[in-house]
Amino acid sequence: MPRNLNIALIGSKFMGRTHSNAYLKVGKFFDLPFNPVMHTIAARNREELEKFALRWGWTHCTDDWYEAATNPEIDLVDIGTPNHVHKDQAIAALEAGKHVACEKPLANTLDAAREMLKAAKKAKKSKTFVWYNYRRCPALALAHQIVKEGKLGRIYHVRGFYLQDWGGPDTPMLWRFQGNLAGSGALGDLCAHSIDAARFVTGDEIDEVSGAYMETFVKERKVLSGGAGGEIAGRGAKTAGKKARSTVDDATVFTARFKGGAVATFEATRLATGDKNANKLEIHGELGAIKFNFERMCELEWFDNTLPEKLRGWSTINVSNGAAHPYVGAWWPAAHALGYEHGFINQAADMIGAIGGKKPVVPLPDFEDAYNTQRVLEAVVQSAKNHCTVKLSQVK
Ligand SMILES: NC(=O)c1ccc[n+]([C@@H]2O[C@H](COP(=O)([O-])OP(=O)(O)OC[C@H]3O[C@@H](n4cnc5c(N)ncnc54)[C@H](O)[C@@H]3O)[C@@H](O)[C@H]2O)c1
Repeated sequence: MPRNLNIALIGSKFMGRTHSNAYLKVGKFFDLPFNPVMHTIAARNREELEKFALRWGWTHCTDDWYEAATNPEIDLVDIGTPNHVHKDQAIAALEAGKHVACEKPLANTLDAAREMLKAAKKAKKSKTFVWYNYRRCPALALAHQIVKEGKLGRIYHVRGFYLQDWGGPDTPMLWRFQGNLAGSGALGDLCAHSIDAARFVTGDEIDEVSGAYMETFVKERKVLSGGAGGEIAGRGAKTAGKKARSTVDDATVFTARFKGGAVATFEATRLATGDKNANKLEIHGELGAIKFNFERMCELEWFDNTLPEKLRGWSTINVSNGAAHPYVGAWWPAAHALGYEHGFINQAADMIGAIGGKKPVVPLPDFEDAYNTQRVLEAVVQSAKNHCTVKLSQVK
């Protein structure tokens, strides 16, 4: 019988639900070195929390995150709160000797991310993880494996788009539109995933960023009557009639060059009318090419440039064959499709495995890895602000 791994999760809304679901399911589908125990859920609203704990199976609940993060009974602290609180929560948990999983982006600022990385390096017995969950979508994990096996050869082009459309003028002043809380808008919220995915799939690092535009199309938004913060569930919530200035980008675009020489374009927006969650990655190499679109998440488009010319063409791989495809074997028979939640459950399996010394199926992002994505976010901000090219070697 594996030993228990007691988990405290901070945050009980969007990510609170995805992570709770992951811990609920992971032990049912994966063989794990520990038995994950849903010990404590922490967030701000005590009354809501009690219902949440009951619904999802958390044994304890508290509106004191510090108590949860430092409780001697807890082994793993999971942070699913707005970006500006990641730093304090992660550092408190690391100083208390916990393993820490944190939502992305690592922090709201590069300085905060650096402090988190420093604390992680100091906490030698703690493992850190960051929820760049799309890495564990089987199609993107397969893309990583294909590139690693050299099947694309030299990479020429990387294109990362993340297009959503929920950020119109009727969407109120959530924390996501407040620069002091979120850090940035579409950039840290959406493009961070594309940057991580591009780094993960190519196995290469961005060397320089150039030509960035960060645009705030909707300058003012209605303030939530519930007060500061504003949670995602509040999108349809009552507003107080007053308006406040949005201080983040609704859309960001930029170009980049990878160390290996590939040139890249990135685009992220909350105003892509008609596109709900078009998280796309396209890579063209000398020997082949791939295209991924999360809206068709079980498929990977593949072009094999090594075939005789008459046989060349785009093919669509249904990434759902347990014997051949990453993570799928833990789930259902072939072509019994997986969904959004499986990326989180797959990540929970790899995190719990890693705490027990197991190698993850594909690389798991830790604080250092996510710090490197955060450096790219900072380079984009500097490029947009100063209309210049920013070398990543200058962003530390
Ligand atoms: N991996 C992904 O794909 C993905 C998707 C959405 C959000 N996120 C990230 O997850 C994090 C949370 O986003 P969300 O959409 O769940 O936000 P949300 O607004 O839906 O929920 C935030 C939760 O944090 C709690 N909270 C806020 N401030 C707190 C504090 N000071 N102390 C304790 N609890 C506090 C709130 O009570 C709420 O339960 C963010 O960092 C966001 O960028 C990641």
